[in-house]
Amino acid sequence: MEKQFVWLNNDLIPVSQARVPVNDRGFLYGDGLFETLRADDARVHFLSEHLERLAASARAFRLPFPENIPWQERLAQLLAANGLSRGSARVKILLTRGVAPGLGLPKECRPTLVIYAQPYTPPSPEEYAAGWPVAVFPEGRSTFVGCHKSLNYLFYLAARQFALDQGAKEALILEADGLVSEGAATSLIYLHQGRYYLPASASALSGVTVTVLGRGLAARGLTLETRRTTVAQLKASGGLWLANSLMGLMPVAAVNGAPLPVSAATAFLQEVLADMS
Ligand SMILES: Cc1ncc(COP(=O)(O)O)c(C=O)c1O
Repeated sequence: MEKQFVWLNNDLIPVSQARVPVNDRGFLYGDGLFETLRADDARVHFLSEHLERLAASARAFRLPFPENIPWQERLAQLLAANGLSRGSARVKILLTRGVAPGLGLPKECRPTLVIYAQPYTPPSPEEYAAGWPVAVFPEGRSTFVGCHKSLNYLFYLAARQFALDQGAKEALILEADGLVSEGAATSLIYLHQGRYYLPASASALSGVTVTVLGRGLAARGLTLETRRTTVAQLKASGGLWLANSLMGLMPVAAVNGAPLPVSAATAFLQEVLADMS
């Protein structure tokens, strides 16, 4: 196997040499943030949007954001070092508070920054055409941490596993009041009476994909509005899609085993998104 390289702080090194102390707060407490981006033929999509979200979350948690990082250059070097200048790649940026004593959110810290890239194989065209079944995760989640891409992903991993155990491919996450929030690793978009909506949710991540899609729809005179949404409304919708930076837009084919028509609008939405990148 070819050697994999990662950025650890300011060094591009083989992954086998990349060491993070066991008392790094990312490991101890999940005290950190991450971003997942997609690159195609070394073009990293929506880099500024991802960095803005990361920086905003870093501010929210008093985590010093690394200044003066030549992001474009670093990502290009990383992709080249990993033989990913052609094809699709999953790029992860991880930022933790590093090693620092005390509970709370100590500002006196030396953050750890890791960037890595791996080959990414998107779902097949047949999978996009057929859509994914989803299952509703019964445990509600209402927390301000949900608005950030923090390293506390255990809830989402458990939700995804719940869905997989039901033979579904993604879990729908509910707020504590039972309203729909998002997917375990995806935002949700749905069609209702010819209009596109996102579930209104106080603790959902603000997805880069749906944000960019909203801009693309606006440029075509269409809107993507937020609306308090129940599972019953999703089941009765004219189309439901999962959206994230890696796979783009995936139609939903069933909710808890109840089939949902894969909307003919899928190709249109995918085109709007592609035009934005
Ligand atoms: C919980 C959650 N919601 C939404 C998304 C979609 O976000 P983005 O479009 O920025 O990839 C993700 C992405 O992984 C996620 O983990």
